[in-house]
Amino acid sequence: MDSIAHLQERFGKPGFVKFEEGRGGLGLVRINSDLASAEIYLHGAQVTHFQPRGASPVLFMSKHSSFAQSKAIRGGIPLVFPWFGANAADPKKPAHGFARLWQWDVESCDARSDGSVRIVFSLKQDAAMLQDWPHEFLIRYVVIVSSGLELTLEMRNGPSDAIEFEEAFHTYLSVGDSRNIVIEGLDGVEYIDKVEAGAEKKQEPGGIRISGETDRVYTNTQAPVLVIDPGLHRTIRVEKAFSDVTVVWNPWIQKAAAMADFGDDEWTAMVCVETANARPCSVKLPPGGIHRMWTRISL
Ligand code: BG6
Repeated sequence: MDSIAHLQERFGKPGFVKFEEGRGGLGLVRINSDLASAEIYLHGAQVTHFQPRGASPVLFMSKHSSFAQSKAIRGGIPLVFPWFGANAADPKKPAHGFARLWQWDVESCDARSDGSVRIVFSLKQDAAMLQDWPHEFLIRYVVIVSSGLELTLEMRNGPSDAIEFEEAFHTYLSVGDSRNIVIEGLDGVEYIDKVEAGAEKKQEPGGIRISGETDRVYTNTQAPVLVIDPGLHRTIRVEKAFSDVTVVWNPWIQKAAAMADFGDDEWTAMVCVETANARPCSVKLPPGGIHRMWTRISL
C-alpha cells in the first residue's frame, strides 16, 4: 500500500490535487480546480465532498461519522458492493458489502485539458475479502471531478466462475429540508418498500415527498432523477447508465436517533438517491465478463 507521501509524489498536482492525511489518520485526496472542489478518502474510495464553484456542497456528510479502519464513513458516496443491505446468507457479514470498508489503491490521477480531474481507484483482493466473497475479480472506480461529478464502477469477473453481485453509489445528497423537497423521475415505477416488510408498490404520480421513514428500492428504472429543493433554491440531477435500480432513503426521526454515527436531527438535511443494481436487478456476469455502472451528479 502506498504511503500518503508517496501518493503525493506520484500523483499530486501542485496547487490543485493534494494527497494528505484526513480525519482518523485516513488518507484522502483533495481537489481544488477552477470547476469544483472535492475530497475522496482512500478508505472505501469514498467521495465525502463535492462542490461546484459558486455553489454550496452537493453531498451531505454527517457530523457524527466515524473515520476509522473497518468502519463505514457516514455521508458522501459510500460504495456498496458486492451485496446490498444485509448479506442474505450470513447477516454477520458487513451490511452493504466490504467495498466501503477497505482502503483502495490509486491507479492514476490526471488533470485534463477541459479543467476536470480524473482519478482511478482499484481494490485488491486479499484473504479477508475472499473469505467474505470467494470470487476472483478486478474492480476499478473512475471519479471525474468537473462542474458535475461523474462516477464509473467497473467490475471485471475472473476467468473461472459466473458471478452475481449487487452494487450502489449510496449517494447522500445535501438538502435544505428533506420534508420540503420533491423527487421527480420515478412516477409509475414499481418499488419494494423496505419500511413495510418488502411490500411491492407503484409510485403514485406527483413525485416523492418525504413524510416519514423512507426506504424504497425502485426496480427496472433507468430514468434520471431530479431532487427539487426550494430550501437551497436548486435542483440536483442524478443521471445514470447500466443501472436498473434507484434507491431512495431517509431514516426520519426514530431510525436517525438509533444510529450511533448520525445526528438525531440530521435526517432533515439529507436524502439518499442511490444509483444501483440490486434485489431482482442484481448483475450476473459470465467468466471474464465486464460490467460498468455510471452516474453523473450535477446542479
Ligand atoms: C439504504 C438501505 O441503502 O442504506 C437502508 O436501503 C439502510 O435499509 C441504509 O438503512 C443505511 O445503511 P447503513 O448500513 O449505511 O446504515
